[in-house]
Amino acid sequence: MLRTIQLAATKADAMHTRRTTSLLLLASSSWLLCSLFLAPVDADQRASYIVHMDKSAMPPQLSGHREWYSTVLASLAAAADSPDGALGEQPRLVYAYDEALHGFAATLSSSELRALNRAPGFVSAYPDRRADASHDTTHSTEFLHLSPFGGLWPAAKLGEGVIIGVIDTGVWPESASFDDAGMSPVPSRWRGACEPGVAFAASTCNRKLIGARYFNRGFVAANPGVVISMNSTRDILGHGTHTSSTAAGSPVPGASFFGYGLGTARGVAPRAHVAMYKVIWNTKGPQYASDVLAAMDAAIADGVDIISISMGFDGVPLYEDPVAIAAFAAMERGILVSASAGNEGPRPGSLHNGIPWLLTVAAGTVDRTMFSGTVTYGNTTRGTITGFTNYPANAWVVDMKLVISACNSSASLANVTTSIVVCHHTGSVLDQLVTAAEAGVAAAIFISSEDVSFFWTISEDTMSFPAIFISPEDASALLSYINSTIIPTATMKFQQTILGTRPAPVVAAYSSRGPSPSYPGVLKPDILAPGDNILASWAPVDPHGTIGETTLGSDFLVVSGTSMACPHASGVAALLHAAHPDWSPAMIKSAMMTTATSNDNTFRPIMDAGASRKGNSTAASPLAMGSGHVSPNSAMDPGLVYDAGPKDFVAFLCAANYTGAQIAAITRSSTAYNCSSSSNDANCPSFVAIFGANATTGEMRFGRTVTSVGAGPATYRASWVSPSNVAVAVTPATLEFGGAGQKASFEVDIKLTAPTPGGKAAYGAVVWTDTSRKYHVRTPYVIL
Ligand SMILES: *[C@@H]1O[C@H](CO)[C@@H](O)[C@H](O)[C@H]1NC(C)=O
Ligand SMILES: *[C@@H]1O[C@H](CO)[C@@H](O)[C@H](O)[C@H]1NC(C)=O
Ligand SMILES: *[C@@H]1O[C@H](CO)[C@@H](O)[C@H](O)[C@H]1NC(C)=O
Ligand SMILES: *[C@@H]1O[C@H](CO)[C@@H](O)[C@H](O)[C@H]1NC(C)=O
Ligand SMILES: *[C@@H]1O[C@H](CO)[C@@H](O)[C@H](O)[C@H]1NC(C)=O
Ligand SMILES: *[C@@H]1O[C@H](CO)[C@@H](O)[C@H](O)[C@H]1NC(C)=O
Ligand SMILES: *[C@@H]1O[C@H](CO)[C@@H](O)[C@H](O)[C@H]1NC(C)=O
Ligand SMILES: *[C@@H]1O[C@H](CO)[C@@H](O)[C@H](O)[C@H]1NC(C)=O
Ligand SMILES: *[C@@H]1O[C@H](CO)[C@@H](O)[C@H](O)[C@H]1NC(C)=O
Repeated sequence: MLRTIQLAATKADAMHTRRTTSLLLLASSSWLLCSLFLAPVDADQRASYIVHMDKSAMPPQLSGHREWYSTVLASLAAAADSPDGALGEQPRLVYAYDEALHGFAATLSSSELRALNRAPGFVSAYPDRRADASHDTTHSTEFLHLSPFGGLWPAAKLGEGVIIGVIDTGVWPESASFDDAGMSPVPSRWRGACEPGVAFAASTCNRKLIGARYFNRGFVAANPGVVISMNSTRDILGHGTHTSSTAAGSPVPGASFFGYGLGTARGVAPRAHVAMYKVIWNTKGPQYASDVLAAMDAAIADGVDIISISMGFDGVPLYEDPVAIAAFAAMERGILVSASAGNEGPRPGSLHNGIPWLLTVAAGTVDRTMFSGTVTYGNTTRGTITGFTNYPANAWVVDMKLVISACNSSASLANVTTSIVVCHHTGSVLDQLVTAAEAGVAAAIFISSEDVSFFWTISEDTMSFPAIFISPEDASALLSYINSTIIPTATMKFQQTILGTRPAPVVAAYSSRGPSPSYPGVLKPDILAPGDNILASWAPVDPHGTIGETTLGSDFLVVSGTSMACPHASGVAALLHAAHPDWSPAMIKSAMMTTATSNDNTFRPIMDAGASRKGNSTAASPLAMGSGHVSPNSAMDPGLVYDAGPKDFVAFLCAANYTGAQIAAITRSSTAYNCSSSSNDANCPSFVAIFGANATTGEMRFGRTVTSVGAGPATYRASWVSPSNVAVAVTPATLEFGGAGQKASFEVDIKLTAPTPGGKAAYGAVVWTDTSRKYHVRTPYVIL
């Protein structure tokens, strides 16, 4: 039973997977909702749609977009070619949008939808859809080398004055991470609100949590009669409290998860302001595109600087992806959107949010082994073994007798309630765990060659009795000690957290992989950030520890996922925005990507936990980690940046052969942009050359323009690394800059000279290095 749950959990998102009960709930409710969603829309059955309109077609006598959309909807019932709805219902406006897109969300019958297609100003319509919930800290800021004594933290004044909008499950405002001591006043440009709701007063916001809004009209419209368990921005699921405190939480000394990871919890940009936009309702979703669009629409209008969104919509084209549509509008306003890649790895092409104009974030480990315990055996300390445990207390297991058992039946554990049971290395270790727990043993040591920690990081729960998992290699010394003495004893210690783990970072196996299904020609993910075993604030009403039958709550929780990596990148982007207020979103993204490190803390290439075969590690490819691990202090001073704006991305949409209506759905206008120029990858700081699997030859040219952001004149020279079947040429190979702000263009020619063995992808990188060797502006490339 335990195993089934855990393995199911590996497929689902980290957020989805806490307890049997919630899993069962999820399974049944998502089945119901899926069948609702997939059911064909009968004439007499309404469904929710998102409708894009061309605002230039709005009749001038109307007072505004809301009135126009209401008028259009009112006209539909009359225009519909057959009378709909036995109950005589009218089409209903769910949201009117004005920032993220021009258009609205509404419940429509199929004949009303047909009539709408003929309405003046109609651009496109598609069903509201549920996100495949990607759910998707103490030490991670140190791992990112953020320091009060130099680098990006002091340069950015810890993110002072920057506003991060977080699209998530809400926030637990009383968490110490949202204490506003030491915060600067709310920026006067802020136009957001602290919306009152259930258990959430308008006075709840402060100088840290400056905004709180909630959006569930799409959810309610799609599920009539549904009960909203917390109709306000208050977080009862924990996820949004975790992501927002990771991005910008105030420092909280003495934070830990039941003693593990003890330290000061703080966000990456600890002086930045947080605005929460709640779109995720009830048990682990679902979340609706219409609500996500409304939230991002509001965030843009409110004046956030960065949007952090740890969820995504799988399998949708860019012109129907709410995150893509809203992020385009955000980019036009100079707002960088940072989004999670998803937790469906290591399957290739499993990524979501593969949107060229936002930052897509993959998850890696940090150099901390969060959940450790020690077994010290022998009377006069014969030896100490470190193993995995997350037992949530400081249990008294001192000089206790060791007994070996098969741990395969209650009979085999009959007389050991006052001993430490050492379970044979036979059968399923998780079955042994269940048997030992049921037998009520005092403490246990399990022997396993599997990485059992994975089961608990995914299930987000703790062990209910004192137990430590050790490797077979470590176990042999313990077993021979037990054999060598009449009364073997040991002492067990819990709540140990070990720093300095090597190698780190490692790309997490679950982190979703490129190429992006929505557009494989732009490399995704963009960057790797800490996402594994991240400690941050949680909603204390969602308990996560157990001792025996007792459930324990915690103000902090350790969670893993790209959901946790995304707010780290959002926090870094906020710091860069504070240090360089004049940088565009593309410049911030470029600075983070070209300075990312591709080596780990052993100075070897970053490894991929999802690609490792037993004992043999494999280096992570750009399809797993993008440009590499984010390096905030280097990103502050990147030397050169690859800038791009809305026009470049329109040229990209044109080159992708989208129709005028599809492009207008993203750009909100059929007149503001045209396809007079086209470019297939919008000056991205990476390259994808698609020749097809097993292609024997091919050649692709990429044009790029870089802008100098370093001080004074500079000369850069190109170099590259490439596999033996790829020839790279860069022209010109030297770039001269007279000073900051100057631009220079070059071309990269990537030629395939022989097929890549096994029909696999090939990888390399192009690096611009200045003559002082201060800057190394690195761009990865992938050959597909
Ligand atoms: C939630 O609260 C808002 C504001 O009070 C109210 O308008 C709305 O109807 C409520 N929704 C549900 C589903 O209870
Ligand atoms: C440890 O060793 C000492 C001296 O050899 C002995 O007196 C004591 O009983 C031993 N304790 C245990 C728990 O075996
Ligand atoms: C438990 O393991 C022991 C020793 O390996 C074996 O003899 C016994 O048959 C097993 N019992 C069960 C119920 O599997
Ligand atoms: C448990 O103790 C009883 C009584 O001392 C003994 O008869 C029995 O064999 C023991 N069982 C095991 C599994 O050691
Ligand atoms: C323990 O001792 C027994 C008998 O003396 C032997 O068969 C067994 O291999 C030993 N086990 C270990 C782990 O040393
Ligand atoms: C692991 O590496 C060794 C030595 O390089 C090689 O012989 C072995 O086949 C590899 N195993 C796998 C599963 O790739
Ligand atoms: C777009 O259409 C042109 C002309 O038909 C074609 O050459 C090109 O490959 C297409 N691009 C994509 C991304 O499909
Ligand atoms: C297309 O846009 C370009 C640049 O914005 C402009 O110069 C050109 O006139 C436009 N062409 C058309 C047909 O609108
Ligand atoms: C490429 O070659 C590999 C091995 O030679 C083969 O398994 C694969 O099916 C080929 N792929 C295509 C698209 O031809």
